[in-house]
Amino acid sequence: SKPSVWVSRPTFPDVVARLEPHFHVSAEPEETKFTSAELAAKLAGCDAAIVGLKERVGATELAAAKRLRIVANLAVGYDNLDLAALGAAGIAASNTADVLNESVADYAWALLLGASRRMGAAERWLRAGKWHATEFKGWLGTDVRGRTLGILGMGRIGQAIARRAQGFGMPVLYHNRSRLPEATERECRASYVGKATLLRESDCIMLVLPLTPETRHAIGAAELAQMKSTAVLVNVARGGIVDDAALAAALREGRLAAAGLDVFEGEPRVHPDLLALDNVLLSPHIASATTDTRRAMTSVAVDNVLAFFGHGPHAGHPPNLLNPEALAAAGVTFPPL
Ligand code: GLV
Ligand code: GLV
Repeated sequence: SKPSVWVSRPTFPDVVARLEPHFHVSAEPEETKFTSAELAAKLAGCDAAIVGLKERVGATELAAAKRLRIVANLAVGYDNLDLAALGAAGIAASNTADVLNESVADYAWALLLGASRRMGAAERWLRAGKWHATEFKGWLGTDVRGRTLGILGMGRIGQAIARRAQGFGMPVLYHNRSRLPEATERECRASYVGKATLLRESDCIMLVLPLTPETRHAIGAAELAQMKSTAVLVNVARGGIVDDAALAAALREGRLAAAGLDVFEGEPRVHPDLLALDNVLLSPHIASATTDTRRAMTSVAVDNVLAFFGHGPHAGHPPNLLNPEALAAAGVTFPPL
């Protein structure tokens, strides 16, 4: 009989239908926050799983997953997956790299402009019926044009953000674990600097790092103290990269002008100190959420599952495999024998 695929959240039925010739597909009909035990039971009952960031997959959740061969993440970031545990179990993991770069870059700019121009608070003011009281000197924001943009984390998303800076006449500084090739730096018109220089000299700072043990609280009290008091900070990467309590204190005390945040420590909870502030624009982790991009992400996850089991244009070569070495070490072959 056909292998089975579990899809943890409602996605796009016509995209997921591409699995149906080869798999028994079981897609959750509504958004659910599964407990660890519920997730373990779901994973125990399938050969492939397409999961979202709400699903945290580690050794506990994999303990009974004897048939599971691949976990396809509906996200580029995969801090929700324990790759060591997956690799040890000989289970493949994949992400949705690249198809969301442009949408996330657009959204990072939306947050920068929205936070700089106080759009969230201004909209709340209008909706509260206070427009008549708007002053000539009310709602003064800061221009972004001509200011210096600092990008921390210069992967493909960071580079897409940098290319957009040319339209705003903004010089770009970046910091990354490794320096980009010169041709890429030139194309992005971005200059490599140390982290301290980036924090000190940037007017607008965008975070596009993956969350790892090394990047946890990469922006904490000490880093916030290095930034200009006029700076605007944007995080479209992951909660936990910023110390949200320290950020809220800096925003409240005028040590930072504004922030635009799509991700939070411990989301879907948001630190109450951030919720109490007007100089921060908040959104519920939606930077990749356009129809085209969320469809493309679903399609990439489907492609990886198909390819793993030897079907489709990438048969035998899942294009977004995150743990090929671990699989090779475990003697895993795809298509599975
Ligand atoms: C979203 O946060 C993603 O990693 O795709
Ligand atoms: C991670 O999200 C990156 O593009 O660097």
